[in-house]
Order: sequence, then C-alpha cells, then structure tokens
Amino acid sequence: MKSLVITIDGPAGAGKTTISRQLADRMGYRYVDTGALYRGVALCASRAGVDRGNEQELNTFLEGLNLSLVRGGDGCLRLYAGEQDITAEIRTPAISMAASAVAALPAVRSWLLGVQRRLGAEKGVVFEGRDMGSVVFPEADVKFFLTADLRVRAERRYEELPPDSSQKLEDVLMDMQRRDAQDSGRDLAPLVASKDATIIDASALTIDEVLVQMMDCIREKS
Ligand code: C5P
Repeated sequence: MKSLVITIDGPAGAGKTTISRQLADRMGYRYVDTGALYRGVALCASRAGVDRGNEQELNTFLEGLNLSLVRGGDGCLRLYAGEQDITAEIRTPAISMAASAVAALPAVRSWLLGVQRRLGAEKGVVFEGRDMGSVVFPEADVKFFLTADLRVRAERRYEELPPDSSQKLEDVLMDMQRRDAQDSGRDLAPLVASKDATIIDASALTIDEVLVQMMDCIREKS
C-alpha cells in the first residue's frame, strides 16, 4: 500500500488522540497531534508576555519559536519548546482555552500551516486536529471527522483528569461547549467536516470499533 496522508478532525474529547495513535501504529505511520502545537504557542506566548493584539510583536515571537513533537518511549507524543519539555504544562484547562483563543489569530494559523505542511511532506502520517482535512491537507488521501455527543465527550475528559483536579463534570462540559463554539464559530479555518470526510459518531462506539471502521475505509480508498 502506498504511503498516505490521513486526517482526523473533530471537536475536543471525541477520542482523536487515542485513535490517531492507534491508527498510526496499525499503519506503521507517524502521528501528529496539531492541537498540541496550538497549545504550545499559547503557553509560550503567555510565558513570554506577548501582546496577542499586536501583530508585529506576535510575528517576532513566532519567528523565534521552535516547537517539536517527539514520540516518547510510552508511544505518546511529547512537545518541546527548544530543549524544554512542555508536555505536562500544555494540558491544563487554562491552556485549552488560551489555545482556542490563539487559534483564531491569522498570524498563528499561518505560521502553523507551514510547520504542519512540512511535517506532512514525507507522507505516511496521521494528522489530528480541527482543519487538517479542510485547510492544511485538502488533498489528503483519507479524511475522517470524528465526533461524539457533548456529554459523552465531557465525561471522557472528566475521567482523564488528575485525581487532585478541582474541576467538576459540569465545569468540563461548559468549558468544552465554549471551546466548541469558539472553534466552530471563528472566521478562519473553523471546525467543520470537509465534504469528502467520512463522519464517524463515536458516542456509542469503542476505540476498536472506530478503528475497524477507519481501516475498512482506508482499504476502500487506497
Ligand atoms: O485538540 P486540542 O484540544 O488539543 O486543541 C486545542 C485547541 O487548538 C483547539 O480548541 C483549537 O482551537 C485549536 N486547534 C485548531 N486547529 C487544529 C488543532 C487545534 O484550531 N488543527
């Protein structure tokens, strides 16, 4: 089978990261979590005190930013800013919201467009995000849109919270709803299923069931 570019887009908590990793393993591919890159930009910009409203300041900051995704021994991706591992720091509720805010900025999207396209140049990659099939790789070989009911997604995210988290299920649900609205309602690269994407509603499916549907679809299309 030739090497493919596979995209998986969808809202937060639909299971994209787990599915992308397992799909990539089955295919012998790399996988790229593009949400982690947006989170990395948000964290580093906030640490550097960048004024997001000042385009020149933002562009200068982005020119000096060096984000890289490296697969760790456990199979999960780790995000580095230069030499610094920022994997844990990008997974807070505050950075989720900040990532969604910086993701609406044209300068950030255009900088990450270049980063993401370079990562896809070699093919044999599963990309997960919001606009992978619609904007970044419109020519991708196979496109999926993975979704699930809001409550199911919120419950899954709630289960993943560290034991010392003070967030309640309703907080997670409301954050998710706000982020969905922000990601779907923005002018630039909003979260939408591209017309040629296969839509999978994972509300009542196990990870294995989703993977079976995806592998069937990949076989048909390649
Ligand atoms: O997937 P994750 O929840 O880590 O993404 C964080 C945020 O990054 C999303 O809420 C979204 O605003 C943004 N994002 C995006 N385009 C992508 C991936 C993520 O706008 N391709």
